[in-house]
Amino acid sequence: MYINEHFLALPESYLFSEIARKVAAFEAENPQSAIIRLGIGDVTRPIVPTVIKALHAAVDEMAQASTFRGYGPEQGYLFLRQTIVEHDFLSRNITLEPDEIFISDGAKSDTGNIGDLLDSQCVVAVTDPVYPVYIDSNVMAGRAGELHNGKWSRIQYLPCNEANQFIPSLPKSRPDVIYLCYPNNPTGTTLTRTQLKKWVDYARENDVLILFDAAYEAFVHDEEVPHSIYEIEGAKEVAIEFRSFSKTAGFTGLRCGYTIIPKAVKGKTHDGKRVALNPLWNRRQCTKFNGTAYIIQRAAEAVYTPQGQTEIQANIAYYLNNAHTIKHGLETAGYKVFGGENAPYVWMKTPDGMSSWDFFHHLLHTCQVVGTPGVGFGPCGEGYFRLTGFGDAQKTKEAIERIQTLKPSI
Ligand code: MLT
Repeated sequence: MYINEHFLALPESYLFSEIARKVAAFEAENPQSAIIRLGIGDVTRPIVPTVIKALHAAVDEMAQASTFRGYGPEQGYLFLRQTIVEHDFLSRNITLEPDEIFISDGAKSDTGNIGDLLDSQCVVAVTDPVYPVYIDSNVMAGRAGELHNGKWSRIQYLPCNEANQFIPSLPKSRPDVIYLCYPNNPTGTTLTRTQLKKWVDYARENDVLILFDAAYEAFVHDEEVPHSIYEIEGAKEVAIEFRSFSKTAGFTGLRCGYTIIPKAVKGKTHDGKRVALNPLWNRRQCTKFNGTAYIIQRAAEAVYTPQGQTEIQANIAYYLNNAHTIKHGLETAGYKVFGGENAPYVWMKTPDGMSSWDFFHHLLHTCQVVGTPGVGFGPCGEGYFRLTGFGDAQKTKEAIERIQTLKPSI
């Protein structure tokens, strides 16, 4: 039996597992330390009451023969797909059909699995720094080439840095697929509608597929910043969008997300035939996925009730306020800081030209604050560090007070 040797090319462990391992080792050696975790973007506020009520009711349905549910539709229940179409899209004048929505166990799975639809020779472009799932899943599929100095030889990197204000330029040569994540993980920066339109136009002119990760759209409050790529004319022909209830409604532990594959999005065969991606993904899901749990889909549906909306908005405001605390606190202390306005992530420049990992260890040892080294998201992340607004408000404040005592000289 030969293995898929592409796995051997991957870094030994996934970024967040590596951080967890380092923090656990530190904790074992320093059991008295009061660590504050602002590393992985995991939520801390409990599930809101309206959603909990819906979960309980759905659990009770499972206890009665008359309302019990077994396997659900692989694509998700119509009640949720319909609610999503109306609430997340029609309300923004975007028309989608329920069968263009696929409910899943989260955007991480879908952004990782979508590569099943791509030819093994497709050239992939990513913004740099980038959510590691996009890269690692392409490495596993053999599309990435070889790793040299932190870069995969067949992946196109689109640098995002201070010089371009974290707004990537269009690729110099045409890729087949571009991953975009806005609001951005990890930098917390955004694209305006005008800026995003350039990408949609480019994709239409060059027959490129955009994989648009909108997992953080709920944090957008600026009018200029789109919530969905389908707000841009023509995007339905070239873009697949990924959404998540994880950060929007605290579902990191419940697991629910969805992917939109408009019927107009097409790819081509080697003999030039145009093929719609929607039926291919449907076929993939029917084969490899048996649907998201009924009770979880009922919980997700409750997010869209007026009361559910009020409750989740309060949590989103809480996290945005944390992001503000981080951003403002670090700026006051003299650090260079980006993002954190329409996003839960704050991207800071490390002080004194320190490397991302040196700063990670420095913060852990001197302040017992955990963040994520920017270089873990790609070569352009070197010299940067990510902090998340998903922590407890009091602890976030304390973490920033601890960092403020370090006094940077940048
Ligand atoms: C992160 O910290 O970047 C997130 O937890 C990513 C994710 O949602 O998987």
